[in-house]
Amino acid sequence: MRLILYLGKGGVGKTTTAAATAVRASELGYRTLVVSTDVAHSLADALDAPLGSLPTQLGERLWGQEINVLDEVRQHWGELRDYLATFLRRKGVDEVAAEELAIIPGMEEVVSLLHIRRQAREGDFDVVVVDAAPTGETVRLLTMPETFQWYASRIADWEPTTLKAARPFVKTLMPAVDIFETVQRLTRGVETLRTTLTDPEISSYRLVVNPERMVLKEAQRAATYLALFDYPVDGVVLNRVIPLEQAEGEFMQSLARIQQEYRKQVYDSFLPLPIWESPYYARDLRGIADLSMIGNALFKDVDPVKVQYQGKTHEITREGDEYVMRLPLPHVEIGKVSLVKRGDELFIEIGNFRRDMILPMTLSTRPAKRASFRNGMLEVRFGTDESALPADAPRQTPAS
Ligand SMILES: Nc1ncnc2c1ncn2[C@@H]1O[C@H](COP(=O)(O)OP(=O)(O)O)[C@@H](O)[C@H]1O
Ligand SMILES: [Mg+2]
Repeated sequence: MRLILYLGKGGVGKTTTAAATAVRASELGYRTLVVSTDVAHSLADALDAPLGSLPTQLGERLWGQEINVLDEVRQHWGELRDYLATFLRRKGVDEVAAEELAIIPGMEEVVSLLHIRRQAREGDFDVVVVDAAPTGETVRLLTMPETFQWYASRIADWEPTTLKAARPFVKTLMPAVDIFETVQRLTRGVETLRTTLTDPEISSYRLVVNPERMVLKEAQRAATYLALFDYPVDGVVLNRVIPLEQAEGEFMQSLARIQQEYRKQVYDSFLPLPIWESPYYARDLRGIADLSMIGNALFKDVDPVKVQYQGKTHEITREGDEYVMRLPLPHVEIGKVSLVKRGDELFIEIGNFRRDMILPMTLSTRPAKRASFRNGMLEVRFGTDESALPADAPRQTPAS
């Protein structure tokens, strides 16, 4: 089974791309499910077919589904949440505060991913394409398993001392729920979920971008965090590119030219990942025939179900007091390396290659000390935390 997950800022074309990928996959012979977890569903609209909370068959090998995240949570988590709230109130926590504390952040997304995973197996699908929520939330969602385990272990910690004693009492209070069993089950579920979501043979994350500054920035941030938490990214969809030769008139010409600059930045930013481009279609896109056309134009002779890139796009390791970041840049020609770091942003130039990237928190407070570029690999060393030093002074780092 393969899981393909699309991420990107709202409006960039995730739903369209996810649906087009699914249609293409089904045409290639895969039993395909496309599922949306976005609260503001638009998958049914893109497919031009009514969808429900269970997979609806849309073609010989194509199914679509819109998960109602809130229903899912109520069904699978409601009891546990009520229980926690009751427990906290028993311990003297104020009514409203108890309700708040009982909400585990990110739980909804985890519950819907668990649901998707179970369903993918039960429905015997070859591939499940996930039309995910906007970038920020999704990245947090994906890092969720650890957070959840932390919460679960806190609850489990209560058990020996307080809860065990309270257990018979709680049982009479809520006889239908075995809370301990529920937490155990969820923890196990989340563990396997995490394993599935970080297995590069199963899961592939694809970023959807437009040739625009803010969209690109957000995608760079997502790429950094996905790499940091070991989620395998295998490609980028560059959507809504205005064809230069078709841009007539001064207005369209300048718009197309601006896009071309950001297009170059997209290539520099995500190399060595493959980048698939979709033109800006001057029409309303709807229904399976349109999606098939988009999917064909986007992937051409590439099989979108197969893993399209293997390996890490960046790697951060700790070596003694230093942190080392390594970026494979296989197609970049050797040239003088120049680095400028400003807060969490790192501007890299090697010859006429240029990459701006967002650093994870761990590195953003450390000075970039040395950079070297050898055998297609850029290596940047970060020194000790500089938060004690005067801030915002941009540093030029000597290259070796
Ligand atoms: N390449 C494109 N050309 C023209 N319109 C597009 C293109 N990609 C997406 N759209 C349209 O843009 C709107 C937003 O796309 P959608 O896929 O729903 O974005 P997201 O899911 O990222 O919010 C939809 O109306 C869609 O039909
Ligand atoms: Mg959408």
